[in-house]
Amino acid sequence: MIESPEKPPGRREIKSYVRHERRFTPTALARYRQLYSRYGLDPGGENWPAELLALWPRVILEIGFGMGTATLRMAAGDPERLYLGAEVFLPGILRLLKGADQEGIPNLRVIRGDGKETLKDFPESTLEGLHLFFPDPWPKKRHHKRRLVRGDFAELVCSRLKPGGYFLCLTDWEEYAGEIQALFRGCPGMTGPEGPGAPARPETEFEKKGRAAGRRIWEIYLRKASEI
Ligand SMILES: C[S@@+](CC[C@H](N)C(=O)[O-])C[C@H]1O[C@@H](n2cnc3c(N)ncnc32)[C@H](O)[C@@H]1O
Repeated sequence: MIESPEKPPGRREIKSYVRHERRFTPTALARYRQLYSRYGLDPGGENWPAELLALWPRVILEIGFGMGTATLRMAAGDPERLYLGAEVFLPGILRLLKGADQEGIPNLRVIRGDGKETLKDFPESTLEGLHLFFPDPWPKKRHHKRRLVRGDFAELVCSRLKPGGYFLCLTDWEEYAGEIQALFRGCPGMTGPEGPGAPARPETEFEKKGRAAGRRIWEIYLRKASEI
């Protein structure tokens, strides 16, 4: 018998992802449930995310961590901050949960669900950083409405970051890189980097593929102004 973990309730809006039904074997499902109860979070409760922020006042949110390779390494190398990853791709979530467990990483939490909704859930000026590594470019024009970085996304990011907090985005899609830069340029609270540069990070799985195929990688690194 093959089963899949119950879906979190969806919220209506055009999504930046397509939910492919993935099923686990009963053993994988049991492991997923066991590890999710330790490292997973279910947003939406009365004290969400205040309770988390009380325990971990320094949070880096990552939307769409894929297989979680970079997330795991960054959390392991920065124990003072909580790395909170949101993803909808079940095999990737299970991989990251297993990695966190094997390495015993206390400052990592996972949300199975839409990371944009998680970003909205945070009160203003509470996040230290937002990581967006290779957001799906949705290359066809008729699919651009599915892109994560569009519309009011830059304002949303700016409002949720603490003053001095950063936004780090990577893409190998030139036209999307230009769109993202333009969108953030139109957001007065976000400035070019002053002070320390982008945090050190390992290659992500998509980055490896992109480089292997000879594609250029754009790194967009911006900070929220200390006073706006
Ligand atoms: C192109 S992959 C990049 C994965 C990884 N960051 C990397 O660089 O290897 C984009 C990932 O974002 C996830 N994703 C897209 N929209 C999302 C959303 N709104 N919330 C959470 N995950 C999302 C997809 O499921 C997919 O795994």
